[in-house]
Amino acid sequence: MPMLPPFIHVRWQRPGLEPAQRDTALAMLSDAELSRPSSDSFLQGRMLLRTFAGELLGLDPRAVPLSATCADCGGPHGQPRIPGLTVSLSHCAAAVVAVAAVEGNLGVDVEPLAGSAERAAAIASVAGAGGIRRWTSVEAVLKCDGRGLRVDPRDVEVTSDSATLGDARYELWHPALATDLHATVAWRAD
Ligand SMILES: CC(C)(COP(=O)(O)OP(=O)(O)OC[C@H]1O[C@@H](n2cnc3c(N)ncnc32)[C@H](O)[C@@H]1OP(=O)(O)O)[C@@H](O)C(=O)NCCC(=O)NCCS
Ligand SMILES: [Zn+2]
Repeated sequence: MPMLPPFIHVRWQRPGLEPAQRDTALAMLSDAELSRPSSDSFLQGRMLLRTFAGELLGLDPRAVPLSATCADCGGPHGQPRIPGLTVSLSHCAAAVVAVAAVEGNLGVDVEPLAGSAERAAAIASVAGAGGIRRWTSVEAVLKCDGRGLRVDPRDVEVTSDSATLGDARYELWHPALATDLHATVAWRAD
């Protein structure tokens, strides 16, 4: 078993916002977040992350100093950062997942287990053989690294509970959220 950093907090939801929840989410967002297209998926992710981080930091969700500056263009669609926490967020058709820890560096990815043969083939063509478990592992590592898919996913070497990317080593945890999902949390091991 890998050594877990102290207290990785995980919170997840099924996708879907009632109109009133949409209004609540919109009221939490920063100007930078409001400048992005407000899909339900984006709003739900930010509401989940702001609420979750607010509870951990003792802040109102609106007051959580969340930024997500893109390393390429400076736009507000990059890796989410909150001083005092390390956080990561993932959406898929079946879930929205946020993770947080008070130290270290985390990445999370969630995918539905079901899918067409075409989807499985598309994943294998990008990430290599290994199925959804390998794909969520690769994406979690790339999100922890912070460059995302600017790195070739095939450069991530994955074993069952660890991975490497260049000289960096990562531990992997596959929390059992639900039987129809596979989620992986990655964190820097050194
Ligand atoms: C990070 C990335 C792999 C996630 O893609 P995905 O698996 O389709 O989507 P997920 O739902 O699992 O993750 C999306 C979340 O990852 C986070 N994220 C975005 N960029 C990230 C990055 N570089 N590193 C870590 N996390 C990132 C965000 O929280 C985002 O959700 P949000 O925008 O609603 O807050 C992909 O967006 C990527 O490669 N981004 C970097 C390249 C890029 O787009 N550059 C923009 C140039 S202008
Ligand atoms: Zn950008």
